Amino acid sequence: MTDTKQKVREFYDEIGWQQEQDGHYQNARYEDLRPVSREYIHRTRLRVMNGLIPTGKFLLDAGSGPVQYDEYKTYSRGYQKRVCLDISIQALREARNRIGEHGLFVVGDLANLPFKKESFDGAVSMHAIHHLALAEHPRAYGEIHRVLASGRTAAIVNGWYEPFLSRMAEPLIGLMRRLSGRSEKKKKEWSTEDDPSGTFVQKMTPKWLKSEIGSKMDLEIKPWRSLSTRILRWFVRPFGGRAFLRFVFWLESKFPTFFAENGQYPLIVIKK
Ligand SMILES: C[S@@+](CC[C@H](N)C(=O)[O-])C[C@H]1O[C@@H](n2cnc3c(N)ncnc32)[C@H](O)[C@@H]1O
Repeated sequence: MTDTKQKVREFYDEIGWQQEQDGHYQNARYEDLRPVSREYIHRTRLRVMNGLIPTGKFLLDAGSGPVQYDEYKTYSRGYQKRVCLDISIQALREARNRIGEHGLFVVGDLANLPFKKESFDGAVSMHAIHHLALAEHPRAYGEIHRVLASGRTAAIVNGWYEPFLSRMAEPLIGLMRRLSGRSEKKKKEWSTEDDPSGTFVQKMTPKWLKSEIGSKMDLEIKPWRSLSTRILRWFVRPFGGRAFLRFVFWLESKFPTFFAENGQYPLIVIKK
């Protein structure tokens, strides 16, 4: 295992999947848990089903973590077993607590899947491939494609590198920060909140995805969630925030191509 992967594993074993005093995992810090954003976040998590055939025998969850949110459990509701694969043993201990007998738990590297070809009727991978060096992303997509049965699909969520909406928001956030008198120290903390800070992340662009992955397999880019946690925290206020987010969700559904490629998180659907 490379030094980077070892560090990612240690991070999740020792920090990311440890529970904090509020009962959430440390990793939940990178999610907007405020009531005002709850409905939007809930509905975007359910969008994974837009890329998944809902029934089958085995569903692979590559980089499963602890299957931490309840919506995540719904992905495998129509499958006999959910095979959770993760590099972190702590992730899998927690996943076993959460899904018990429905799960099979495998410590492994998602860029070298220890499964035979065509073993799975479906696959999901959420926020995990970005922990690999970009040069290894094609291998991870290739592995998911290899283990997928023909005629089936995989639903993959990973953030884009500096997407258009975030680039537009940054100057406004800078202005709001100055007006609210936030300190530079605070700025440093905020600036890492979209990435699981403390561990390695490398993101892609739509152009890269289409040329490096789209040239090798059939893929479609759909919207998942276009507003990053950073944007949600700065722009969505308790008063009127829910209505605003309903409007955003509607826009994402109405203009899927734009929001899939210019928002923060796409849903990448691989078809075999
Ligand atoms: C940001 S968490 C996401 C977990 C879960 N999919 C979710 O959305 O809540 C990333 C997960 O990927 C796992 N991971 C990172 N690199 C991996 C690798 N090379 N192989 C397998 N799992 C990996 C981490 O241990 C961690 O549990």
